[in-house]
Amino acid sequence: ASTLGAAAAEKGRYFGAAVAANHLGEAPYVSTLNTEFNSVTPENEMKWDAIERTRGTFTFGSADQIVNHAQSRGMKVRGHTLVWHSQLPGWVGGLGTADLRSAMNNHITQVMQHYKGKIHSWDVVNEAFQDGSSGARRSSPFQDKLGDGFIEEAFRTARAADPAAKLCYNDYNTDGVNAKSNAVYNLVRDFKARGVPIDCVGFQSHFNSASPVPSDYQANLQRFANLGVDVQITELDIEGSGTAQANSYGNVVRACLAVSRCTGITVWGVTDKYSWRPGGTPLLFDGNYNKKPAYGAVLTALGGS
Ligand code: G3I
Repeated sequence: ASTLGAAAAEKGRYFGAAVAANHLGEAPYVSTLNTEFNSVTPENEMKWDAIERTRGTFTFGSADQIVNHAQSRGMKVRGHTLVWHSQLPGWVGGLGTADLRSAMNNHITQVMQHYKGKIHSWDVVNEAFQDGSSGARRSSPFQDKLGDGFIEEAFRTARAADPAAKLCYNDYNTDGVNAKSNAVYNLVRDFKARGVPIDCVGFQSHFNSASPVPSDYQANLQRFANLGVDVQITELDIEGSGTAQANSYGNVVRACLAVSRCTGITVWGVTDKYSWRPGGTPLLFDGNYNKKPAYGAVLTALGGS
């Protein structure tokens, strides 16, 4: 196979990219997306502030644009994200406990039902744990008012809303074995033991020189898979350039392929031109849509050429 998506498909995986609706009018952006990728994640368009900026008013236009594009090309869609402390409209934080609970459940239900049958995996809850050694939950309106049980409640609501979608917990700095990933591991183990619905764990995998690909990356993916969930690499990008960046990308792809329950990889953008990292060059295509050495390393690791 000569494209990322086709090579990944031969290994039984998908290879996706985060996509922004406002670039879908740019010809080289779209042709790169369509040629190379067979899954998309809306970068911002499915977040709470984009879909329900005002309580009870749901605006799906930009997200629909991406979903329609993907569907017409036979691409999968990852849903990102239903319950997150960031990109959360102010009104949510202003609610009392009972109102917040019903707003959270209503948001999950309305959004998932709108996209029922169209989303392969949903990031139901995103980034609920703190960085550092505590393994504690991160403060958010959901955590602070609903308590630890908000994650379980969100997943149960999500299962009822679209029983066919895979339900994922997604986080960053959980890529190796550390206090934060241990906390997520304990959550997933507890959910599986008690029959709380969860199907997958997303490892964002935002890497840079301060936070390189961990040496125990594969082992960490495997220990989660051993709990009986799929694992997905959901927001991959690696700062740098040239051979070093290419080698890191190759290591990530090989780690996923070595874990049978690692079902797919998504890079967090199509081109360096639009990366969320200011001035960064963390992706597979440069600002002119040329293939970088990292692209070649990924394609080779996937068994393509
Ligand atoms: O949409 C508004 C626009 O109306 C406004 O005029 C403009 C002015 O600043 O801002 C626009 O919103 C920006 C939005 O991206 C859409 O472009 C926000 O300021 C900006 O903060 C936002 O950044 C996004 C970031 O999440 C926010 O947390 C990035 O694009 C997006 O790549 C990034 O993605 C996150 C994942 O969702 C979760 N994991 C980490 C990852 C990287 O930070």
